[in-house]
Amino acid sequence: MSEKDNDNKASPVITDRFGRTLNYLRVSVTDRCNHRCTYCAPSEDKFAQKKRAEILSFQEIARVVRLMADLGVTKVRLTGGEPLVRKDIEKLVGWIAEMRGIEDLAMTTNATLLRKYAGLLKENGLGRINISIDTLDPERFRMVTGGGELKPVLEGIDEAIKVGLAPIKLNTVIMKGVNDHELASMIDFAGERGITVRFIEFMPMREGVDWKKFYLPVEDVLKRDDIRERVDTSAVAEKIDAKNKVAAYSLPLLNGKGKAGFISPMSNRFCDACNRLRLTSDGRLRSCLPADMDVDMRAALRDNASDENLIALIKKAVLLKPEEGEYNYEEDGRQRSMIDIGG
Ligand code: GTP
Ligand code: 5AD
Ligand code: SF4
Repeated sequence: MSEKDNDNKASPVITDRFGRTLNYLRVSVTDRCNHRCTYCAPSEDKFAQKKRAEILSFQEIARVVRLMADLGVTKVRLTGGEPLVRKDIEKLVGWIAEMRGIEDLAMTTNATLLRKYAGLLKENGLGRINISIDTLDPERFRMVTGGGELKPVLEGIDEAIKVGLAPIKLNTVIMKGVNDHELASMIDFAGERGITVRFIEFMPMREGVDWKKFYLPVEDVLKRDDIRERVDTSAVAEKIDAKNKVAAYSLPLLNGKGKAGFISPMSNRFCDACNRLRLTSDGRLRSCLPADMDVDMRAALRDNASDENLIALIKKAVLLKPEEGEYNYEEDGRQRSMIDIGG
């Protein structure tokens, strides 16, 4: 891999048709996962796991990331499926960490394997980690994850704190009637450890799920007494009144060192501030989470494409980015589920 020398040039930027700077690449390194979360993984009969040869090699991923870094990407997040089930993932972490221009290298994981990997990831240059955890009740955890065990996840969180993969953020998908009564205890859990918990509105990303049954807007959560007793919500009204579309509040906790975040992709769209591109595990470059439009990087990578050819494809994907992503709630024709795209 050749490092381009652009030290003396102005910093490159990728800008889309609507003037947004795209500097954040999310890379799904596998579509495999050791959980089957109800809102994410398609039912087994619909989920055709990709064959090994369909998935980009580390060399292929690194080449795309390198080119993107040359174009102006500074932030990379490794996702899955579950990124830690991909063998030797720490190697890829090491390669990307060393690339010029990459300032923020992070991972989103379900933490089942994190106790084993946290130290190794840190040593190889991973900066920080986000952990998906929707409940602190072992029985409910099994139900939500399709049979997963909570204990290794809690051990993984402790280990990540110990090795300093900070700031650590927990991601909790709000599910009405499933875990909404537990949000306060999740805040206490984060506060005791001095980490962040973020509550995410349920998105209709999987066919066959009655999303309306589970969906609870962040606004309703923020009104609740058990939340207001714990979180400093004083800045929220001001932000809503200003109509500045702040969708992802990050609020200090009243007692404890942590923070609570509220991500509202459904009720308060943040597309105007979107800085993301996504590379799927099979090498599709996707410019918007819900929009089923992408560019096939894999075919070009395997057809001896030059850097210029690949850059032209990246620019094509950027041009496809819509002003606002549409969720086709009622449609069953979604081509790609969350497990495939990586969130
Ligand atoms: P930070 O860099 O720590 O802010 O992480 P992140 O929020 O970008 O990444 P993470 O993988 O933790 O994402 C958490 C969740 O936020 C995602 O799975 C989605 O549910 C939601 N989210 C993140 N990015 C987008 C996006 O571009 N569009 C929408 N609609 N939701 C998003
Ligand atoms: N709605 C909201 N959040 C989701 N995630 C996955 N699927 C959904 C969905 N349908 C979250 C996971 C993970 C992050 C990458 O995306 O909890 O933390
Ligand atoms: Fe970005 Fe699309 Fe998500 Fe909007 S819906 S924030 S454009 S990825």
